[in-house]
Amino acid sequence: MVCLGNICRSPLAEGILKSKVDTSKVFVDSAGTGHWHVGDQPDKRSIAVGKKYNIDITNQRGRQFSARDFGNFDLIYVMDNSNRENILALAENDAQKEKVRLILDEIFPGENVDVPDPYFGGDAGFENVFKMLDEACNQIVKQL
Ligand code: 4NP
Repeated sequence: MVCLGNICRSPLAEGILKSKVDTSKVFVDSAGTGHWHVGDQPDKRSIAVGKKYNIDITNQRGRQFSARDFGNFDLIYVMDNSNRENILALAENDAQKEKVRLILDEIFPGENVDVPDPYFGGDAGFENVFKMLDEACNQIVKQL
């Protein structure tokens, strides 16, 4: 699960997907394309909305996406088109590029919808992000 800062959207996506899979069989992680929040705990608003739905993301710490992740993961879900561009720029071949999916394509196929970045907004944005990611993760688990 990849976003820009790895403190708002992708930590929620990681926590939500982990809650829906057998984590002894499916390894789920998240990262940011940016470096600003490496080592940081998720944003307190993401922690709060997760807690509201019984998903604890307090143990997560920010990390930056690395080209090595293409080797370590089968599927790479990005939150928005700019994340996708940044990740695709690091891919070395078509097989790596094919691992990259826009997460809301899972519920709005072909519509190219971004998960809005809630960082500069209010709490309602985080609730909205949670609901979108929850629905998208329901689709993802059906295909695993
Ligand atoms: P995220 O949100 O990509 O969902 O984690 C952001 C968090 C921090 C920043 C940007 C987006 N920032 O510019 O620091």
